[in-house]
Amino acid sequence: MAERVHPINVDAPPPPPPLSTAKNSGDALQPPITYKMGTKKVSQRLICSVATESLAKQVDEPKMDTPKEIFLKDYKQPDYFFDTVDLKFSLGEEKTIVCSEIAVYPRVEDCSAPLVLDGVDLKLISIKINVKELEEEDFSSDSRHLIVHSPPSGKFTLQIVTEIYPQKNTSLEGLYKTSGNLCTQCEAEGFRKITFYQDRPDVMAKYTSRIEADKSLYPVLLSNGNLIEQGDLEGGKHYTLWEDPFKKPCYLFALVAGQLESRDDTFITRSGRKVSLRIWTPAQDLPKTDHAMYSLKAAMKWDEDVFGLQYDLDLYNIASVPDFNLGAMENKSLNIFNSKLVLASPETATDADYAAILGVIGHEYFHNWTGNRVTCRDWFQLSLKEGLTVFRDQEFSSDMGSRTVKRIADVSKLRTYQFPQDAGPMAHPVRPYSYIKGAEVVRMYKTLLGSEGFRKGMDLYFERHDGQAVTCEDFFAAMRDANGANFSNFLLWYSQAGTPRLKVASSYNAEARTYSLKFSQEVPATPGQPVKEPMFIPVAVGLLDSSGKDLPLSSVYHDGNLESVTCNGHPVHTTVLRVTKKEEEFVFNDVPERPVPSILRGYSAPVRLESDLTEADLFVLLANDSDEFNRWESGQVLARKLMLSLVSDFQQNKPLVLNPQFVHGLKTILSDPSLDKEFIAKSLTLPGEGEIMDMMEVADPDAVHAVRTFIRKQLAFELKQEFLETVKKNRSSEQYEFNHPNLARRSLKNVALAYLGSLEDAEITELALHEYRTAKNLTEQFAALVALDQNPGKTRDDVLADFYSKWQHDFLVVNKWFALQAMSDVPRNVEHVRKLLNHPAFDMRNPNNVYSLIGGFCGSLVNFHAKDGSGYKFLGEMVVQLDKLNPQEASRRVSAFSRWKRFDETRQNLAKAQLEMILSANGLSENVYEIASKSLAA
Ligand code: SER
Ligand code: ZN
Repeated sequence: MAERVHPINVDAPPPPPPLSTAKNSGDALQPPITYKMGTKKVSQRLICSVATESLAKQVDEPKMDTPKEIFLKDYKQPDYFFDTVDLKFSLGEEKTIVCSEIAVYPRVEDCSAPLVLDGVDLKLISIKINVKELEEEDFSSDSRHLIVHSPPSGKFTLQIVTEIYPQKNTSLEGLYKTSGNLCTQCEAEGFRKITFYQDRPDVMAKYTSRIEADKSLYPVLLSNGNLIEQGDLEGGKHYTLWEDPFKKPCYLFALVAGQLESRDDTFITRSGRKVSLRIWTPAQDLPKTDHAMYSLKAAMKWDEDVFGLQYDLDLYNIASVPDFNLGAMENKSLNIFNSKLVLASPETATDADYAAILGVIGHEYFHNWTGNRVTCRDWFQLSLKEGLTVFRDQEFSSDMGSRTVKRIADVSKLRTYQFPQDAGPMAHPVRPYSYIKGAEVVRMYKTLLGSEGFRKGMDLYFERHDGQAVTCEDFFAAMRDANGANFSNFLLWYSQAGTPRLKVASSYNAEARTYSLKFSQEVPATPGQPVKEPMFIPVAVGLLDSSGKDLPLSSVYHDGNLESVTCNGHPVHTTVLRVTKKEEEFVFNDVPERPVPSILRGYSAPVRLESDLTEADLFVLLANDSDEFNRWESGQVLARKLMLSLVSDFQQNKPLVLNPQFVHGLKTILSDPSLDKEFIAKSLTLPGEGEIMDMMEVADPDAVHAVRTFIRKQLAFELKQEFLETVKKNRSSEQYEFNHPNLARRSLKNVALAYLGSLEDAEITELALHEYRTAKNLTEQFAALVALDQNPGKTRDDVLADFYSKWQHDFLVVNKWFALQAMSDVPRNVEHVRKLLNHPAFDMRNPNNVYSLIGGFCGSLVNFHAKDGSGYKFLGEMVVQLDKLNPQEASRRVSAFSRWKRFDETRQNLAKAQLEMILSANGLSENVYEIASKSLAA
């Protein structure tokens, strides 16, 4: 999904894993099933439930009601399909009654199979087939299923009445109450907490939903599709009736009921359909929905312009709720959003929030085609919709802002969240459920096929599969067939886990005027996948001459042939090499001098590149590369090398000295007026502590933290004048505007202020206080707070207290205040975080609070990995408490332990003890059990 930017975006330590897809994120919504690919277990069980593939066995052994592991290879079509589903909800304060009437038909004639329905935490009131109540012996049930033993052989009508208790539902799956309103979350397997159903995405049906409720408590009653009827009922009640004309899987079902008001607007589609757009929030938040509405209209227009895709109904609703397990959810025509991804005003949201809202509103809208019209056959195919839709929202945000900066942000996220996971016990392939790596796979199709070829593939995909539930192979086939392309082993990207390592060695032959790049690749072993095949890696390459200019490229020797790389007969500056073997050489022809190669331009494949470039080469690229991504990347490679060598000095008690060339390089970038300001801000940001720890044999958080802090301080000291000037020159005078020039200016100013804040200097404290007091928007006010937060003492305490008293009425701003304190690297900050757990604004049932405070704490690597074990103990306790309320949220938090073996023995023992403690807790959820036990066994 689109970008989940942490509230602290000013050169802060790595944020906790994102709440949502991803959007930008790692794997936010992990599937609920224990998955196995082939015979090898690759993923984790995250929700206490079982998917339907193994149900044949369930029926043979009716007493077995523990979760079963699911294998992709065992996929079977359901025995029964559902044609129409008519739901009636009677919403009450004590309980809600759900009546469902389903038109069922067997997949094959004379079907004698039992009909197995999923259901969790439901009270069955009645079950009828063709209007006749079933006898007790006609069906059986366990804690997860209802099984009708011998349904009629042809079509029949199934009527089921259940009772549910949304007021008591703290898991935030199914139907639940949030701040007085009711809402649903059904992906992946929440619908089974609403009624008995075949809860699998390949069962697609047309739905109607009638909702009845008390009119004063729930004046607004929403569901999917078109509103076709509404009216008053006796006893102060009222009802609405909704009809969704499109077939959908039940994970896209939605219901929202409560005291909400809407911001209304319209969008006219390219073919002239007038679409009503409504964003629903509590009345007091309506003024903050302006940017969300702007984002929605921009997304609708963009999808028409870029993909020719138009909206298909007359109504598009978005409802915002404060308690939500994810960022947002793409339910057909009724998206439900975590309010932090809808509500924004200049005073209460940062540029990062504005960007995240743009991306996520886009993401959910884009799902209407990639996810809803064409959906997934089973949850192994999650990347089919998420990888593709994340890619689409990334492209949308790039087109709305700076492409290079967006790419840098997305790649940084991949490195922060995905690569560490790829290298740990939770490593799993893109299929079943990697969002961000899935988006990289989609991007590679585009890199290989070009924009036009990619669009042709998309068109064919919709032509073939509209209205269907399909697989990643179907997407691959559409791309291939639309272009007559040869993709050799490309599908391995979906099945092989781990980050490929790509090594490259270069040599120049002056006599032959040829330049050779020799690639070798290796995909590391991951749990369950000891042996890997070579991958298909598209490597975009350019060659720079000694003055830093791109050399024209016209032909390459490869596999014994001289291949032309021209475009319409003209030489090119970038060509995409297709590396498909373990070892492979490409020789550029007619190269007049030894060039500096710019390899993997635009980060053309999600691999770890190890090249033989010298520092001098990297400085040439940093100063000149026409590929801005690689300009940034060369700076990062230099910074990583520098940090690692200083870490080694630190560990040997040697004095730390900063390479003057590095300072000079950053100074040049900082003072280059031709560069985009946001690009400069990104280039000045050092690689995160986690990224450096990842590159070490034994991760040493204390050394890495000390080194990063030292470099930041040293840079601030040596470039103090430049940073001061940057702050002064980039102050706002005008109204807040969310557009690229303005947000770029603010980001540069804020990075400079953050550097300055690392100096313990009274002049700087005054400056930051001044910025804090005079800021006209939260982006700058919060950045001033971040700068001040670095130095413990009275000023910091006072300004934090001031900020809280100013914003205590706004829970989204208060979350930022929690996160800032939680992420602090101040020694023994755990004690302060423990106190904040008792703060009146903190509620463990709210995922945003948990993300900010507990997730934020784990983002301070030096405190989370404190050698006395205090950070691990804190997280262990939190996971056990949280698991009783919200297993999905608890499982996200427990993942922070998963790489415990990367640390020294003392830390290993401390982390292991916490994992053991968690596993011994009574009534532990499957979600947490799976991750904790896998982590321990790794
Ligand atoms: N499917 C949801 C989304 O994409 C949750 O991940 O936002
Ligand atoms: Zn999504």
